[in-house]
Amino acid sequence: MKVIYVRPYAGELEVVKSLLAGHEVFECTNIEELPEEVRQSAEVLSVFVNYQVTKEVLEQLPNLVLIATRSVGFDHIDLPATAARNVVVARVPHYGMRTVAEFAFSLMFAISRKAYQAYMDVQELSTIGALDVYEGFDLGGKTLGVIGTGAIGFNVCQIALGLGMKVLAYDPHENEELVGKGVTYLSLEEMLPQVDIVTIHVPALPATHHLMNAERLALMKPTAYLINTARGEIVDTPALVTALKSGKLAGAGLDVLESEHDLRDEVALLADNETQAVEWRTIVADHALIDMPNVIVTPHIGFNTKEAKREITEITCTNIASFASGEPQNVVT
Ligand code: NAI
Repeated sequence: MKVIYVRPYAGELEVVKSLLAGHEVFECTNIEELPEEVRQSAEVLSVFVNYQVTKEVLEQLPNLVLIATRSVGFDHIDLPATAARNVVVARVPHYGMRTVAEFAFSLMFAISRKAYQAYMDVQELSTIGALDVYEGFDLGGKTLGVIGTGAIGFNVCQIALGLGMKVLAYDPHENEELVGKGVTYLSLEEMLPQVDIVTIHVPALPATHHLMNAERLALMKPTAYLINTARGEIVDTPALVTALKSGKLAGAGLDVLESEHDLRDEVALLADNETQAVEWRTIVADHALIDMPNVIVTPHIGFNTKEAKREITEITCTNIASFASGEPQNVVT
């Protein structure tokens, strides 16, 4: 098959070409840079979450039959548009079972021990004074609220239990193994007032859009922290900014932002007359978060380990090869 592989990481294309021997693979940063005949004949498009598959992108690929996204989430793909064209979408349902879970704890530790602030001071100040400003708190003994106990949330629970945390969880599907290990499932309304840290691990779906809204943020203790390594849209960003600014929440660790795609290209947005006021409000709120001293923001790197990336590449190539042999797998339905 003819495969367009958008934005591979350094060294990935060699692996892809060897795993997809017998297929033709074309690399690009944006499909517009490819020759017209490649776009006209390409059957497979492989993208990561940093590439939006819009109706306009699909219109340039008339022969497309498969999108192989190199991600768990697929909210960067216009699914109604792919369905209208009968284009199959395959994803990587799970990878690096602990990768994102470990990263959620990277954010928790960075916050709980003020590691980032301490490191910046060591770099920038000629002397370090009283250490009181770096006083942190132990995670052991604290209560963690886990929203979503699927593959990532399950591992978050395991790590938290290993650290001696009390773990409360919210998920419509209770995991019996976790219950057996001491995790208690509650409704969000019951869980939020009890936790010292809440960490989000649900997919971006209409049902999870702004799941953490102003009312739910208000249920949390003013000393509590919010960690989001799932998707920005799950948190109402202006409501989060208001809660943090008014001292109703102590801080946040965010690997994902609601307008992260737009933040990379704000100048283009300025020229787009169709950008809605609500989108600008979210972008402004995201900027406010980035500037807050009690918030750590990372650029969507929860997945980004050598091991996880290799696994993603292998599963993506298997998704393409199995589709080509008439047995599609990991299809988004
Ligand atoms: P999963 O599908 O294994 O688990 C999701 C869990 O959320 C399931 O247990 C499901 O029952 C639960 N859930 C669904 N709707 C819910 C709702 N309305 N309320 C509460 N729980 C609900 O997914 P996995 O692998 O754990 O990934 C979770 C998310 O993490 C992905 O959808 C993706 O958006 C994000 N992610 C972020 C990465 C990063 O680099 N920061 C990397 C990989 C995933």
